[in-house]
Amino acid sequence: MGYDNRAPVAEERPMQPVPVEGRVPAALRGTLFRNGPNPRRPAPDAHWFMGDGMIHAFRLSDSGVEYGNRWVRTVPWAQAGAEASDGRPGGFANTNIVGHANRLLALEEQHLPVAIDPISLATDGAEDFGGGLPAGPFTAHPKHDPRTGALVFFGYGAEGFFEATIRVGSVDAAGRTVRCETIKAPYAAMVHDFAVTERFVVIPLFPLLADPEAGVVWRQDRGAYLGVMDRQAGAASLRWVPAPPGFAFHVMNAWDQDGVLSIDLMLSDAPPFFPDPSGKAPADAPSFLTRWTLDLRDFGAAVTSRRLSDLDGEFPRIDERFAGRPHRHGFFTTFDAICHRNEATGAETLFRLPDGDSASEPVFVPRGEAEGDGWLLAVLFRQERFRSELAIFEAMDVVSGPVARAVLPCRVPAGFHGNWVGAAS
Ligand SMILES: [Fe+2]
Repeated sequence: MGYDNRAPVAEERPMQPVPVEGRVPAALRGTLFRNGPNPRRPAPDAHWFMGDGMIHAFRLSDSGVEYGNRWVRTVPWAQAGAEASDGRPGGFANTNIVGHANRLLALEEQHLPVAIDPISLATDGAEDFGGGLPAGPFTAHPKHDPRTGALVFFGYGAEGFFEATIRVGSVDAAGRTVRCETIKAPYAAMVHDFAVTERFVVIPLFPLLADPEAGVVWRQDRGAYLGVMDRQAGAASLRWVPAPPGFAFHVMNAWDQDGVLSIDLMLSDAPPFFPDPSGKAPADAPSFLTRWTLDLRDFGAAVTSRRLSDLDGEFPRIDERFAGRPHRHGFFTTFDAICHRNEATGAETLFRLPDGDSASEPVFVPRGEAEGDGWLLAVLFRQERFRSELAIFEAMDVVSGPVARAVLPCRVPAGFHGNWVGAAS
């Protein structure tokens, strides 16, 4: 067992140059932003998910690599420091960070996005896209539609955390909220991720119930569902189809083709971090890349499930220019390795880390037009040095190891998610 790199860091660092081993590709220019919980006032009993969001930025320019980090200035962050919280955005804003319509948005799932200044990492405030977005829940995993540039989102607990309603909508490439409607779910539950195909919004619903008495509790007996809604027809077309047992935080991709819906997710037997009705947290269950398929011509048909990988993985990503269509290349972390999976062949290649080191979610950055032509960026924790590195891989040659590593003066906590914002965008 290595050091638990979920532990927070106490220091904010302004953007500063960091040394690079190897050569940063000349065409790779922009910033990798990452987000994760980092409690300003650490409380050993607090749930890991409840820490104040901290943004980490790795900026790649002609003059080298710079790194800096900064807390998101939310209400809980201010209160943790006994500072005035007036006018600050609510929530922890600690789960993801996404660029859209010239804004950089720190996301959690119970509150509006929080706009972050991409240069200074200062908190600009809650972002409602000119009043178009209603206050309330907004997923940490919105999806860009590669055909239109729209950002498709949902928010569970649309009418209150314990209510079985989900908001589904879309913000177009210019930042206009063009759709927002509320649908009804079979039960009130935490819904962490979803999928968007060319035709459908797909919501995997797992019985991680939001119960006013028990709190958030794992109720396997309530069964999982797949919600399928035609994007054009909207709420009236929504169907909930019973799904196989299990739980997933994250979806890799989904698509509809020839009347069959496919969704690839990281499926486990039970969620980590949350109790069952007896109050006991389930044992840590491995999660495996799994494909659910549903015949859309026959909604009476069952969702079928097929495990694709035997690797215990998380944080799945693809070349997102191919999101919503069948993908050929998938990437995820097993925490002790970065994995590239070729879906055409089923081949999996790994870059393994030394014992005690760990790898973040890998983020794909495109270069050429072909799917998979680009780089893969991940933040590695190196236990022996007790500091972190930004590692840059050739996406199609992960096994050869990083072509460049930016060696930070500090540790970057494990955190959750990140995204790349190119220098030109
Ligand atoms: Fe997530």
